[in-house]
Formats: sequence, C-alpha cells, structure tokens
Amino acid sequence: MNTRNIRPLTDPSKPKVYIETYGCQMNVNDSEVILSILQDAGYVLTEDIEEADIILANTCSIRDNAEQRIWGRIDQFKLQKRKREGVVIGIVGCMAERLKYKLLTAVDLVAGPDSYRSLPMLLEAVAPGKPQINVLLSHEETYAEISPVRLDKNGVSAFISIMRGCNNVCSYCVVPYTRGAERSRDPYTIVAEAETLYANGYKEVTLLGQNVDSYYWKDPNNAGKDVNFPQLLEMVAKISPELRVRFSTSHPKDISDEVIYTMAMYENICKHIHLPVQSGSSIMLEKMRRKYNREWYLERVAKIRSVIPDCGLTTDVIAGFSGETEQDHIDTLTLMEQVVFDSAFMFAYSERPGTLASKKYPDDIPYDLKTSRLNEIIALQGRMSLKSNEKEIGRVLKVLVEGPSKKNPDELCGRASSNKMCVFPSRGEKAGDYCEVEVVSVTSATLICKRID
Ligand code: SAH
Ligand code: SF4
Ligand code: F3S
Repeated sequence: MNTRNIRPLTDPSKPKVYIETYGCQMNVNDSEVILSILQDAGYVLTEDIEEADIILANTCSIRDNAEQRIWGRIDQFKLQKRKREGVVIGIVGCMAERLKYKLLTAVDLVAGPDSYRSLPMLLEAVAPGKPQINVLLSHEETYAEISPVRLDKNGVSAFISIMRGCNNVCSYCVVPYTRGAERSRDPYTIVAEAETLYANGYKEVTLLGQNVDSYYWKDPNNAGKDVNFPQLLEMVAKISPELRVRFSTSHPKDISDEVIYTMAMYENICKHIHLPVQSGSSIMLEKMRRKYNREWYLERVAKIRSVIPDCGLTTDVIAGFSGETEQDHIDTLTLMEQVVFDSAFMFAYSERPGTLASKKYPDDIPYDLKTSRLNEIIALQGRMSLKSNEKEIGRVLKVLVEGPSKKNPDELCGRASSNKMCVFPSRGEKAGDYCEVEVVSVTSATLICKRID
C-alpha cells in the first residue's frame, strides 16, 4: 500500500490541501491528477496535516482490511476538525464510489474516481451540515489532457494512466464497480505526457491500466488510425532509447504474441511482465471468471520465455477463494514451483459486497485455513524468489540508478530491466544515470553487484 504525501507549495493566502493515497499505482496517479486540478483552482498543497484546510484520502476497496484502515484514518482526521474549525474532510477514490452516501454521515466530501474535475466545485459548496457528493461514473473520462503534479520524489520514474476502469468481471473483484467501464486514453496525449517527462529528466515511464493488453483506442475520425497496446508501446518506446518503458497489469487471457514480440524488439521496453495468476487450479480460475485455465497460463509463460528468455515475471495470488480444496491449493503451489516467479503479491481472499462471488459463492474457507494456506504460499514464494535471483549470478545488467542504497550510502540502488532491485558500489552517479554491473551474490529480495563499467 502506498501512503504518499505531497510537496508543499507555500502561499499563506490560499487554502491548503493535504492528501493521503491508498491502494494501487493507479490511485497514486489519480492523486497527481487531483492535485493538478486543485492547483489550477487556486489551492496549494501541504505535507503537514496540522496546517491543512482540506484533508483528502484517496482510498481503496480491494479488500476489507484496506477499507478498515481508512475508517481508522477518518477517526484521526476528525481530531484535526476538533482542533481547527472549518477543516474539510474528503474521501475520494474507490471506497467513495463503493460506499457513496453511506460515507456522508462521516465526512464532508465524497468523490468517485471519475468525478475529480468537479472537486473545486464540490469544495466551494461544502458547508456545515451540507456535505457534497459526486460518484457518477463515466464512459469517457480519461483525464487525457490533465498534466499530473508529480508526487514521486526522485524525478526518475513516473506513472502514466493509459486507460481507466475494467470490463472483466472477475467474480471476487470490486474494481469494475468502483472504477466503471474500461476506456482507453488518446494515445497522442500519452506520448505527449511521456515526452514532457523525458524532457524534464525522467528516465522511466510505467503505462498503467487494470488490463493493459486490452488497451484499444478507436480513431474518432475512422481514418484507420486505431491504436492497440503493442502499437502504443512502440510509440512510447520510440521517444528515446534512453527512456525506459514499463507497463502493468497484463491479463493472462489477453497478453498477445504481438505484445511479447514488441517487447523483444525494443531494448528500452523493460523485460518484465506482471501477470497475475490468482490460482493454479483450473476449477478455481473458472469460478473466479478469469477466462483462462492453468494450461493456458503456463503456455503464455512458455511463450514469453521462448521469445524473451530472461524476462522478469511477477504475479498476484489469492489464497482461500470460495470452495478451495486442498488439491486446488496444491495446484497453486505446484504452478508457483513450475513458473518460479521473481516475486508475488499474495492475499487471503476477502469477500467484497456486490461482487458476483458474494452473491453466488460462499466465503467458506475458515480464517485459520486461509491464513495457513497464505503463509505456505508466502514461504514458497520466498524460496522461489531466491531461486530466481540465483539464476542472475554472473549476469551483466544495465541498471537505472534510483539513489543511494538505504543500508550503505557508499552504494547505489536501482532496477534492472527485469525490475529486480540491484545494489552496487557508487562512483558518484546520481538518480537517473545508467550503470553496467555484474551480479555477484543474491538474497531473495536483492541482487548484489559489482561494477564492470
Ligand atoms: N487488474 C489486475 C488486478 C487488480 S487488483 C488483474 O486483473 O490482475 C490487484 C490484486 O488484488 C488482484 O490481482 C488480486 O490478486 C487481488 N484481489 C482482488 N480482489 C481481491 C479480493 N476480493 N480478495 C483478495 N484479493 C483480491
Ligand atoms: Fe479486477 Fe479482474 Fe478487472 Fe483485474 S481484470 S481489475 S482482477 S475485474
Ligand atoms: Fe486500485 Fe484499490 Fe481501486 S487496488 S482500482 S484503489 S479498489
């Protein structure tokens, strides 16, 4: 989970906005869009909640514990309100969209992911006893021409949303309800944003979407200029060989050979695919409505590795979905052993109200069993991460420096194309420089390297 604050811009005459961000990278990017909209409307940003006039939380609903955490934060925000009269508390993002009016008794402002352009208007209208809400979802909104106010501290890598919403209905997932229908952003605005970032010293952009492989922009003039995801990747990759391109998330049912070949063609398209499997059991995958089975997933992995042998591969796994048997769980473990992912996000299934699963499939795996399965999955992934990293020993990697290593200021850290974290001796390089290194030893989380340049 990300909790990021924003850079202060000091101007005592303007109302000060403080924002916390929870959930996925898309939410981080959305906070940057929100700040851009609010700055244009005359608000300034503060990192200090104690001086904020407006406190916003950009929220996540993906699992119950994500929402519980926000409820805890709302209680803390209210302490600020007691200290300073007139402080406005706003909940925006996925939880705002999911709970709608139910939040209005707790806060002053509720705004869903497609309503951020109306934030200045809503803030103007907020008054004691008059909370404001906009949770309309849109079929068109992509915030295409808004330049996000960059929150990342290092000025090296940035995220660009290329689409919004999701048209899949994975039975466990709340995202289609909180983010609405899938829509793709105008590719020319995406390229323009990446070009501006590169001109401002950025060296890496990550193209974001819930299912980037289904990106498809229809040329409004019907002049045959439609753009699909591999074409978009190529357009961004061509900006400069010095600008790295990453993307997330890929869906196993949609990742095409064309995407894989395009990755292979451009050195600056990073060789990393985040390909959430969710489960290794075809029975579970069917119930999850993922629209692929174990064999399909393994075939996609084999294809990726045949075209890009050293491609980084990471995944998401859910333990204890409805009806999961011991055999289904073993199927997940054996798939993980077979694929050897570099790393994984691993979760216990959390039933979300309103989803298909909540209506059709009982949340019937007892808490203790879910937890023990999840722990087994986490322990196995630890061994697999080490195994995956051990294969890197002796390899030469090009690393984009992110900054000094946290443990030792004489060392630098940065990521290889595969997205693996590397540490190596510094020769005074700074964030944004490229270094050539050779892997000498590894842990399950890091490649320890020597310089060869
Ligand atoms: N669009 C991406 C994932 C978005 S949500 C995809 O399709 O892969 C990020 C991850 O959260 C999912 O991959 C899944 O592993 C997890 N997740 C989603 N809903 C969940 C739930 N109800 N309980 C537990 N984990 C969940
Ligand atoms: Fe959720 Fe599935 Fe869409 Fe991912 S693809 S956001 S898991 S519905
Ligand atoms: Fe992201 Fe959470 Fe919403 S994962 S899309 S912020 S529900």
